[in-house]
Order: sequence, then C-alpha cells, then structure tokens
Amino acid sequence: RSLHSAATRGASNISRRGYASEPGPERKVAVLGAAGGIGQPLSLLMKLNPLVSSLSLYDIAGTPGVAADVSHINTRSKVVGYQGEEELGKALEGADVVIIPAGVPRKPGMTRDDLFNINAGIVKALCTAISKYCPHALVNMISNPVNSTVPIAAEIFKKAGTYDEKRLFGVTTLDVVRAKTFYAGKANVPVDGVNVPVVGGHAGITILPLFSQATPKANLDDDIIKALTKRTQEGGTEVVEAKAGKGSATLSMAYAGALFADACLKGLNGVPDVVECSFVQSTVTELPFFASKVRLGKNGVEEVLGLGALSDFEQQGLESLKGELKSSIEKGIKFANQ
Ligand code: NAI
Repeated sequence: RSLHSAATRGASNISRRGYASEPGPERKVAVLGAAGGIGQPLSLLMKLNPLVSSLSLYDIAGTPGVAADVSHINTRSKVVGYQGEEELGKALEGADVVIIPAGVPRKPGMTRDDLFNINAGIVKALCTAISKYCPHALVNMISNPVNSTVPIAAEIFKKAGTYDEKRLFGVTTLDVVRAKTFYAGKANVPVDGVNVPVVGGHAGITILPLFSQATPKANLDDDIIKALTKRTQEGGTEVVEAKAGKGSATLSMAYAGALFADACLKGLNGVPDVVECSFVQSTVTELPFFASKVRLGKNGVEEVLGLGALSDFEQQGLESLKGELKSSIEKGIKFANQ
C-alpha cells in the first residue's frame, strides 16, 4: 500500500516473495489505548488476524511492554509500540483501520454518560490526529459513551475537512454478541448459528435488540423476550457490577472489537456481503446517527440497511429510545464545537 513507509514495504516484500499463497493486501491496523483492559486482549486478537500486515499499538503509557510481548507471536503482522503523544503521528501514519478503546471505563453506579467529560476530550484529541495522519482510515470507536463519541468524531473530522460518513463507526458489536448468547440460551439452540440484529444506540434503553428477527426462529413468550431485551440492555452493567470497581467488559469487548475490525478489513479487501450492526451516520430514522445493519465494502459503509419489520414491543422500544439518543448525539456535537 502506497501509504506505508518505504522501509516497511521493502521488508515485507522481501519476506513474502516466493510464497505460494498470498495472504492478501497489506493492511495497517492501529489500536489507540492498546495497553488498557480492552486494548491488550484486542491487540492480541488483532495479532492473530491474518488480514493484518502491520499492527500499531499506541497508548500514553505501557505500550512498549505490550508490543514486545505480542510481537513474539509467530503470525503475519509486524508489531510496533508507540508511547506518548509525540509518537501518535507515527502510530497512525498509513493506517487502514484505527480502533479506539482509549479512555476510562465505568465503575458500579456509573452510566456511560458519566464518562463523558474525560473520554470526550481523549476522543477529540485522537480524532484530530487521525484527520492529520490517516484521514482515510476506517475509525472503529469503542470509547464510551459511543452515542456521543461518534458525533464528536464526526464534528472533529468535519472541522478538519476530512469527514467521510462511510468511514466512521461506533462499535456496538458487543451488544450483538450478548444478544446472540442470551437468545441461544433461552431458545436452546447452538449459539454459533444464531443471528440477532441490535439497533438504536449503545447505552441502556437505546440498545434495541430485534429478537423478532432472530434466527433460528424460536417461539419465545413475550415475557422471555422482555427479559432478554433488558439483559442485553444491561449486559454492560452486569459486568461492571461483577467486577466490583475493577472496570467494565474488557475480554468480551476485545472479542467484539476484533470481530468488527475483521469485518472492516474484509470489506476493504472486497469480500462480498459483509454485514454487521454499527452506530453510523444514518437516515434510517430522523436521528443523524443510528445503529443498524450496515453492509461493509472497499470504502467502508456501502449501504446502511433499514430496520425491517418490528414487533409492537420493538416499535415501542424504538420510540422510547429516541429522546435519550437524540440528546446524547447533541451533547457530543455541542462538546466538539465549544
Ligand atoms: P482501561 O482504563 O483499562 O484502558 C484504557 C486505556 O486508554 C489505558 O491504557 C489508558 O492509558 C489509555 N488512554 C487514556 N488516555 C489516552 C489517550 N489520550 N490516548 C491513548 N490512550 C489513552 O479501560 P477499558 O476497560 O479498556 O475501556 C476503554 C473504553 O472502552 C472505556 O471508555 C469503556 O467505557 C469503553 N467500552 C466500550 C464498550 C463498547 O461496547 N463500545 C464496551 C466496554 C468498554
């Protein structure tokens, strides 16, 4: 890829010449917040992904250790750790996908919105650097509150003149992962064949799993669907409480983040029919950002898919989430412009 440094390109051309099976195009993935609770297992999982040729691990502290450790794994990607703001540019340069799990997690009793003041500033700074060093990268936003950090990122990119709505994603994959797991348990079906779309946003009642569209079909009672919906909406809080002050979901989030980044890479590489739910700029409802199924392609979002048929319960859920989601979006936009 032309954006890669000559040195990296040269080295990997030499090492790959003569191999029978081409592992695919060179792809650089940067993880910002790589030394954190999510960042470390996410870095590990991205190191295991054969679509990645260059793995860039950035944090304000702790990345040399994480990078040295992960780099010993005998998989395709070259790993480099970057520490401190002065190395952020190098970490980002040439990145195809930037994954952002930087920021503080929740403690018991906190909502995702309680994280706003700290994380909004972190996201603003990181996105300013992205617009400078890798304006064409697909950005996978994990930092909470996603309902606000994605609009913040959009505003920062707009100000820099680099905004492309096809390249900005709020990662809601963990909601889908949870919905699938919880549904499989109640429907008594093998979890690996389960699909459940989750739409709306990524906090409390804004998380709307569409169990009426879940496959394989199971005729679950209304009260079970209600309980599954509530558990999916409060899955994050379940983990926060179980960890009792030691943070929020990290391992399942790393898995979900790796899954979503893999889908982005497949899309970039031209694999057809890659569809994942994500919080993106949207016209599916009257809200400017909304999570729904998205088809991924060579430029990021290829198509934002509609909601499909909703049950009465889901329709009610949709109406009651709009107020909170709207104000979280507006809060992000206001912060970015102040
Ligand atoms: P953590 O505190 O374990 O790790 C965060 C990392 O970010 C630390 O290593 C810290 O040094 C780093 N960091 C702080 N400021 C930074 C900056 N300016 N640049 C780069 N790195 C910086 O937190 P954890 O558990 O990894 O969570 C990270 C974020 O992910 C939180 O905002 C959390 O709420 C969010 N999250 C999102 C989920 C989702 O489904 N989207 C699920 C779970 C957590």
